[in-house]
Amino acid sequence: MHEGARTDLGPLSRFLGAEPRLGFGAWAVGGAGWGAAGAEREREAAIRRAVECGITFFDTAPTYGGGESERLLGRALHADRADVAIATKVGPRDEPRASLEASLRRLDTDYVDVVQLHEALERWEWQLEKFHTLQVAGKALALGLCNATHLQLERALRIAPLATYQAAYNLFDRDVEERDLPLCRDRRLAFLAYRPLAAGLLTGKYAAPPPFPEGDHRRQIYWFKGKEFARRSCVIERLRAIAQREGISLIGLALGWLRAQPGVGMILVGAKNSAQVDQTFIADPRPLTPDTVAHIDAVIADVFRPARAMPQLGDAAQTWGERERFIVSRLDGKTRYEAIAASWTDRGEQPMIAAQVKVFVDQLAEHGLVGPIADS
Ligand SMILES: NC(=O)c1ccc[n+]([C@@H]2O[C@H](COP(=O)([O-])OP(=O)(O)OC[C@H]3O[C@@H](n4cnc5c(N)ncnc54)[C@H](OP(=O)(O)O)[C@@H]3O)[C@@H](O)[C@H]2O)c1
Repeated sequence: MHEGARTDLGPLSRFLGAEPRLGFGAWAVGGAGWGAAGAEREREAAIRRAVECGITFFDTAPTYGGGESERLLGRALHADRADVAIATKVGPRDEPRASLEASLRRLDTDYVDVVQLHEALERWEWQLEKFHTLQVAGKALALGLCNATHLQLERALRIAPLATYQAAYNLFDRDVEERDLPLCRDRRLAFLAYRPLAAGLLTGKYAAPPPFPEGDHRRQIYWFKGKEFARRSCVIERLRAIAQREGISLIGLALGWLRAQPGVGMILVGAKNSAQVDQTFIADPRPLTPDTVAHIDAVIADVFRPARAMPQLGDAAQTWGERERFIVSRLDGKTRYEAIAASWTDRGEQPMIAAQVKVFVDQLAEHGLVGPIADS
């Protein structure tokens, strides 16, 4: 659609303020993909409790619980519909109109406040064009995008009047700091941070890698196992002391850190039941002071020290693929892995994220090809 399309927040500005707020992430209340599901009654009560705590922004998707998250939200929010914002998504392979109309039926509402493209895959530009017609038809008040590269995001801003961009962000997973967040700030796009608790890890409740049951998506998440789990646990132990000094919980510290990051508009936190809502949402955490943020960042920098290539690595890498050689050439003991990944992504090919760099560097470390890296 329009060249130079803009990001007028319109009705959304009621829900997105100048200060970052907490929004309710409704994936886990969908009852699937997060271990043993609680009773429907309990999951619905979590949503109601969030409303009682003053939460006015709810994020869902047709895939969460196979539609169950939307159905439950529709029921739990019905009486408060005019006072809350509902954001849903369209899958990367779905036809936007059919997908959103099915969502509206499950949500039992005539409109959503935001419809977001869940991921930018092959047909994403075509999908975004269709999004605009849904906005014109009043079925979605605002448009958003999730999980894109900064290059796609820049292009998206020329295709549709985007209001929001959603991506993973927490004190461990910081790819967005390189390109996406500065772009959102520049273009006045509301940034919605998901996985603020690193899918539960930042609650501090795991003393050992958790044995997630079959069907729990966290079985595939790399930080719940191996060296990354060890490194993150080491950080979490040091964060406990900081939280204690601040007189707040670890959850409060993790969310307060996010609230202090410039450009964050909404922090989408997941909770499965009322007890979790009470711990997470009641004490809507204040932004941390610059000193506390700097202290947390120093702990992370200390544990996640960038690796340096050993002299023999250059020879070994000669026959490797281009991505691997790209990483190897930047292992100078100083460059953050997020920066390495972002500079690869700048090329406009298959994108890279810091997690891929970390996993690769851990393999190199096993063969003595890099050093020194994080204590773990
Ligand atoms: N656009 C996307 O691609 C995308 C991707 C992921 C998420 N999201 C959105 O972001 C939202 C939040 O992300 P997320 O749910 O993945 O992760 P999260 O907010 O980092 O973690 C939420 C999980 O942490 C655990 N938890 C929360 N409060 C707790 C407490 N007080 N005590 C103990 N455990 C607690 C719960 O799981 P357990 O009790 O099972 O440990 C909960 O489901 C999602 O619901 C979704 O709306 C979007």
